[in-house]
Amino acid sequence: MSAGFSTLTIALLLQSAATPVAPPTAPVSAVAHPEIWPTANARPLRDPKVEARIEAILKRMSVADKIGQLIQVDIASIEPSDLRTYKLGSILNGGNAGPGGNDLAPPIEWLKLADQFYDASMARSDGRPAIPVIWGTDAVHGNNNIPGATLFPHNIGLGAARDRDLMREIGHVTAIETAAAGIDWTFAPTLAVVRDDRWGRTYESYSEEPQIQADYAGAVIEGVQGKVGTKDFLAPDHVIATTKHFLGDGGTGGRDQGDARIPETTLRDIHLGGYPAAIEAGTQSVMASFSSWNGAKMHGNKSLLTGVLKDRLHFDGFVVGDWNGHGQVDGCSNESCAAAINAGLDMFMYSGSGWKTLYANTLKQAQSGEIPAARLDDAVRRILRVKIRAGTFDRGRPSSRALAGKMTLIGAADHRAIARRAARESMVLLKNEGGLLPLKPSANILVAGGGADNIPQQAGGWSLTWQGGGTTNADFPNAQSIWSGISTAVKDAGGSATLSADGRYAKKPDAAIVVFGEQPYAEFKGDRPNLEYSPDDKSDLDLLRKLKAAGVPVVAVFLSGRPLWVNAELNASDAFVAAFLPGSEGGGVADVLFRKKDGSVANDFRGKLSFSWPKRPNQYTLNRSDPGYDPLFAFGYGLSYAKPGTVPKLDEARPAGIAASFNGTVFGKGRVPEGWSLTLVEQGQSKVRLLGVNATTATRRLTASAVDRRRQEDARAFVWAGGPADTRIEASGPLDLTRESNGELSLVIDVRVDRPASAPVALGMVSTNGTTVTVPITKTLATAKVGDWQQVIVPLQCFAKRGIDMAQVTAPFVIATDGKLGLSISDVKIDSAPVPMTKCGD
Ligand code: BGC
Ligand code: BGC
Repeated sequence: MSAGFSTLTIALLLQSAATPVAPPTAPVSAVAHPEIWPTANARPLRDPKVEARIEAILKRMSVADKIGQLIQVDIASIEPSDLRTYKLGSILNGGNAGPGGNDLAPPIEWLKLADQFYDASMARSDGRPAIPVIWGTDAVHGNNNIPGATLFPHNIGLGAARDRDLMREIGHVTAIETAAAGIDWTFAPTLAVVRDDRWGRTYESYSEEPQIQADYAGAVIEGVQGKVGTKDFLAPDHVIATTKHFLGDGGTGGRDQGDARIPETTLRDIHLGGYPAAIEAGTQSVMASFSSWNGAKMHGNKSLLTGVLKDRLHFDGFVVGDWNGHGQVDGCSNESCAAAINAGLDMFMYSGSGWKTLYANTLKQAQSGEIPAARLDDAVRRILRVKIRAGTFDRGRPSSRALAGKMTLIGAADHRAIARRAARESMVLLKNEGGLLPLKPSANILVAGGGADNIPQQAGGWSLTWQGGGTTNADFPNAQSIWSGISTAVKDAGGSATLSADGRYAKKPDAAIVVFGEQPYAEFKGDRPNLEYSPDDKSDLDLLRKLKAAGVPVVAVFLSGRPLWVNAELNASDAFVAAFLPGSEGGGVADVLFRKKDGSVANDFRGKLSFSWPKRPNQYTLNRSDPGYDPLFAFGYGLSYAKPGTVPKLDEARPAGIAASFNGTVFGKGRVPEGWSLTLVEQGQSKVRLLGVNATTATRRLTASAVDRRRQEDARAFVWAGGPADTRIEASGPLDLTRESNGELSLVIDVRVDRPASAPVALGMVSTNGTTVTVPITKTLATAKVGDWQQVIVPLQCFAKRGIDMAQVTAPFVIATDGKLGLSISDVKIDSAPVPMTKCGD
């Protein structure tokens, strides 16, 4: 920050109100007692030939070679040629990474890149052993990063299907489509037992009850890796599985990367769930959880990673970290963390430009003995063991392997048929008054709602992009929308179907199917303060009500990553289907909604809730085993044609005191969130709150007025007349943006320079106690074309590095200058944006 800002900074400091903070609760113990945990037996049993091969390789490796095996880097942060010099163990593609920086790169590009990394890893002329690099990907509902892949329902829907055999088939198809692209390893299955449905990863969980995880784990791992003890195990049509996130990820009170404050017995009896079964089915890797247990980060918890997982459960594969998760261990940074390795982590998952520093630091820690030689060798042995078992030493370049390059396998018809069956089986019928369903396909059907012809929405997060946004139907070449499935079924039976997103029709239909629900999200972007569906926008409800009022029988098909409070929507529908996130095969929805042509039932509903459905928006911890359990629809609920039932009229009143949600929008459509304020601040004067559209400070140094960008008065113009002044947006209470900052989100503002600045300009944030930090944006604004809208993006990490308390942000946006300036602002967001984490303003 330039010196010219001293007065300004003082002004900012003076103006910021300090809000008292509650002290953290005292930690419960974070040390586990392995002897009270169940045991398991790792499979396959150790093969002496494999072990001898490991020892022979290990003997010829330098310490630097060994360190290399411990590091996995995101392909956005490394080039294949780097592996000629640095012999790293693994690469991954994060949810937003693709070959050549293209998330939507076709399958063949993935295979080509896999060859390039492999070739570089094998290039060696110093007599040391060449060790093939392995590539890991989040194939969490099919090989979902690759365009055209079969997309299965997300886990919450699969949990409702209660079909163990289906899980084996899904695992196998996922493996085939992953292997076809030349990728060795998937970061799945997720065995989180999610106990608080506010969490944005609820849909990645099979169930709130560990029994389903325990039932499914073995089958899905067998599908992915092949059956242990048979020649199928890690054969070329299989890939390495990861069981994640160890442990207690679903117990953090709905907070992503949060803290599970629970007794050891709860961690064991609820959250261990499917792990013993996964280990016995031979899972070759386990991912450490981002979360903490009783205040201590899992990546550093030796009693759990080593004591429970390795020693007690006899897991003999390797433990991979989660996305710089090691950097969150006390005393660690992303580039240095001996503590995680010493706790039992075997491979760092690293993203960012500093992997060479991580390599150098880890090497130093091994040389100094801070990481004991025996621990280092144990980690390397585990990684080599998996690589040998998976055939990576023997099967040559990715493109020369049995399935590689067979791109017709990606989205193959028989794979899609399994996904369609899965979609069908995952539908849960919540309501069906008067036996409205199954519909006659020969009828006149209106199909409405924003989700009807929307493949990105039915696929959810982790679909081509990390958050599942930014794509259209055209990006999913082998998929079918729900509308398309309905239209085909109706046309085949001689009926008529009309798509009308807003529900308008020319001829009154016999019935309307309204498809609506949550927009895609992943991880923390889906965290919610309560379970009210769409608190700020009731247009879906209005649509249901409008149709019902017109006397049209209404079938609601609800797309969501979790149970939500939809009492009003249930009341406004005659039939209501919880469809969760069905994936690429929208046809699976029509399969259960329509009769056969001859009038008989084609497919009955078989989905049963694997998560309890709330009766009130604040029932986010609602689990069958809780005392006072009082759901709207209990765990296991699901109507069918064979077993109908009725649902009475439900209470629609929102209980008082439910917090409004912060969804990342700081300013948009001319508004700040409810309870927030946009203010103008002039040194030595009291703040002026912008209530309507016009305001000015005491001596007129700063003035605001309305501007139309995309719609009437959706932006504000600010004019600085000279002399220190700022405009800022203050939240209703301190915001915790730590997760957003760890998740590499940025402060993104849409601005238009109306009049160039005469002095330096700063963009800042304020945290409790008035700590203000700024980054300079003078040059950025100076190079902007006057009168044109543009984005200014500053990673949250820039503010964190400059010393703001990310857990207590009171004002996430401040723009300040001492000079003259004219600036219009239409949007201020906390969002993911393509910018290097080190690009801190000018
Ligand atoms: C997620 C993991 C995922 C990894 C790699 C993390 O943010 O927590 O589930 O496997 O990223 O994309
Ligand atoms: C990556 C994800 C990862 C996340 C971690 C994203 O940028 O694409 O794969 O899980 O960061 O927060």
